[in-house]
Amino acid sequence: MWAGLAGPRQDTQRCEQKQVRWPHVTEVLRLDPSHPAAEGIEQGAAILRRGGLVAFPTETVYGLGAHALNPSAVRRIFAAKDRPAEDPLIVHIHHIRALAELTEDLPPGVKPLASRFWPGPLTMVMRRSRAVPPEVTAGLDTVAVRIPAHPIAHALIAAAAIPVAAPSANLFSRPSPTRAAHVLEDLNGRIDLVIDGGSTTVGVESTVLDLTGPVPTILRPGAVTVEMIRAVLPDVTMLSTSVRPPDVGMKSPGLLLRHYSPRAEMTLYEGPTQAVLERLIADATNSLTRGRSIGILLADEDDLGQYPAAVRIVRLGRERDHEMLAANLYSALRALDAEGVEIILARTFADESGLAVAIHDRLRRAAAGRIIRVT
Ligand code: TXA
Ligand code: MG
Repeated sequence: MWAGLAGPRQDTQRCEQKQVRWPHVTEVLRLDPSHPAAEGIEQGAAILRRGGLVAFPTETVYGLGAHALNPSAVRRIFAAKDRPAEDPLIVHIHHIRALAELTEDLPPGVKPLASRFWPGPLTMVMRRSRAVPPEVTAGLDTVAVRIPAHPIAHALIAAAAIPVAAPSANLFSRPSPTRAAHVLEDLNGRIDLVIDGGSTTVGVESTVLDLTGPVPTILRPGAVTVEMIRAVLPDVTMLSTSVRPPDVGMKSPGLLLRHYSPRAEMTLYEGPTQAVLERLIADATNSLTRGRSIGILLADEDDLGQYPAAVRIVRLGRERDHEMLAANLYSALRALDAEGVEIILARTFADESGLAVAIHDRLRRAAAGRIIRVT
């Protein structure tokens, strides 16, 4: 299976349970995120071309890339992530002309959206061509595509000169990785290479926009907001995270509730800030007396007053600085997990527009539906 690979990656170990072979060694390659060295990019591109797995930074989160038109390479992604085969992947390209090979006919919105938001954190779902293997799309007749803006991602895909299927480079249902260390936490030994380009800037995954139905629909909110898309497509709508028709789970399985979750049990508190903070600390104190370890996610300006020293507090940024909150969210969840915290309490951040929509969507999923409304 790995016979084509050179060097230490030829050695494989058998994972009896899953009947797959992992490469023994995951190589880590540090590259300058703004000016990646061409030899480094070429090393990653060569691995992708011959069917291996390369994790790389995008502007949103780290992706786990494989040759999108090579079914066995794509199957390796699912094996490495323990991802269910019915969850389709995003195909990453470096130029809009690569759409011709992947899609049947272009919905009218694609070109204006692409010229406004590509390269960038917008994924568009279109009818797929027969060149796209069903492994990529989970058997759907549609394909999700984006052009990432990160210089490493962009250079890597251009050098490989193939479309690159890449989900977030985490184990299935864990928070997406925003640093190379997060990728190694989940996938060390399972993939060939991690390109370390430092922290990603956006911090939450791309906006997924379905252009195959009668009305353009945002399936997953992200940094390209509904307001931004509405300026190009006035009739765009958004699937609500709380009210979700039962068939959507099948249409875009990544939308299932428990997703992006920490290992700790997370509860999300919604309501007026002061009332929420009081309730948070009361509930944390309660759990502490029952012997549980607690972490709380807060904004910089949140004042808890007196609270037990054993509570671990992580601050994400200023309440109104949604860019910062989004950029820090997943690494905060992973940091609390790494400390072995059993319970995480978090609050929402007033605003329900712009990037806050994506932040709240991820918080609700991380909480797997455990939401307390404080009045
Ligand atoms: O920012 C991102 O989008 C990152 C980086 C690496 O590009 N990728 C990412 O991939 O988040 P992943 O696999 O973790 O999430 C892909 C999402 C899932 O919710 C999936 O269900 C949806 O896109 N998706 C993929 N193909 C689809 C399709 N044909 N129709 C509807 N939804 C699709
Ligand atoms: Mg993911």
